[in-house]
Amino acid sequence: MRRCNKQIQSSNGFFLVSFLFVFFAGFFNFTFSCSDGTCQLMEACATATDCGVGMYCGNCPALGKNQPFCVRGQAVIPTSIINGLPFNKYTWLMTHNAFSIVDAPSLTGAQRITFYNQEDTVTNQLRNGVRGLMLDMYDFENDIWLCHSFHGQCFNFTAFLPAINTLREVEAFLSQNPTEIVTIVIEDYVHSQKGLTRVFTAAGLDKYWFPVSDMPKKGRDWPTVTDMVRKNERLLVFTSDSSKEADEGIAYQWRYMVENEPGDPGVAAGSCHNRKESKPFNSKSASMFLMNYFPTMPVQSDACKEHSAPLADMVGVCYKASGNMMPNFLAVNYYMRSDGGGVFDAVDRMNGQALCGCSTITQCQVGAPRGVCKSSVPSNYTAPQTTTSAGSFTGSVQLTGYSAKIYSPKSWLLFFLSVVSLIC
Ligand SMILES: *[C@@H]1O[C@H](CO)[C@@H](O)[C@H](O)[C@H]1NC(C)=O
Ligand SMILES: *[C@@H]1O[C@H](CO)[C@@H](O)[C@H](O)[C@H]1NC(C)=O
Repeated sequence: MRRCNKQIQSSNGFFLVSFLFVFFAGFFNFTFSCSDGTCQLMEACATATDCGVGMYCGNCPALGKNQPFCVRGQAVIPTSIINGLPFNKYTWLMTHNAFSIVDAPSLTGAQRITFYNQEDTVTNQLRNGVRGLMLDMYDFENDIWLCHSFHGQCFNFTAFLPAINTLREVEAFLSQNPTEIVTIVIEDYVHSQKGLTRVFTAAGLDKYWFPVSDMPKKGRDWPTVTDMVRKNERLLVFTSDSSKEADEGIAYQWRYMVENEPGDPGVAAGSCHNRKESKPFNSKSASMFLMNYFPTMPVQSDACKEHSAPLADMVGVCYKASGNMMPNFLAVNYYMRSDGGGVFDAVDRMNGQALCGCSTITQCQVGAPRGVCKSSVPSNYTAPQTTTSAGSFTGSVQLTGYSAKIYSPKSWLLFFLSVVSLIC
């Protein structure tokens, strides 16, 4: 200490230390005006726990937003605000290739060669309000696996995990959350005899099965969510293989929903048309609409840009193209990524418009006539504490891929102290 004082008095060190002190003091004031869960949407943050409920600390370099700020990471479950309507009146968030998770370990021993679509576990997706899962199922290793593959065949370098592992996560969620409804859409390459029936039964999901015989034909309304919960028919499963409906009682997807073209033709601005397997939007024979909103090649660092203004535009385009049918499922890659509200705001707006004629679900009032909305949206966003199912985000988004390094106050302090000690 004495040596240091001497040096400070006798050299440029004093100037340097003062400069650093002023510099970092300014930095602290600027960045850490909030912390420990008090930071609001879009406010600068430093660690995962700085942001309020339902948010995490992220960024969006693809839009030039490199400094971390609080980003929404949880959905508002629409039935927690307006309950009791037919299932097909609501919009739900759906994850495309929910199982294709960045950094998922290889269970086959082979180096995986494929692309990824999500960043957190299916359990976490469900806790954050995802209610639809797109799963690709294949015969593999005398079992059924979730796999990203080609020519209908799963290889050890394209395999992710046995389907039962993920289905058990869904079972755990449904049993812990007795009022929640989950939809699974299968891209189905399973040919083994009653393969799907066996794996769903083994996972304990048969007890939540919504019977295909009760699914509405000819564009009629679905049962109400209240009825579905009361009867414990809280799992909807759709397959892309039409033969399974007669053989196994698993609904053939395009008999019950229309769907737009996924991939790049589908996300071309201004264009929304049905994929070839789907009936035309105006057929009126299906009462649900699955809106795909993802590029053919998922790019982690672009997702935040995709989940900003262009998403709202595309919802409008699809709504018009379908003759004013609000999509029931919004299917995306990297659902957590956005420049603020992201897919969560989009779904809130879709539900607000469809359920009560308000600009967002949080403006809906129970029992009020359509279009009579809460006038003021609180300026500070906090996710409504609506259902016990709302979990907390584990924070993996900041830890994967391109995301900016998040410096904690402690590491800055250590850096500052170490600079001072070097000078002294
Ligand atoms: C993956 O499959 C190939 C061909 O089927 C085989 O040669 C290879 O040994 C397998 N790799 C592992 C790690 O099992
Ligand atoms: C919003 O948050 C700021 C501090 O971040 C606070 O001063 C203000 O009162 C809050 N406004 C509302 C409406 O809660």
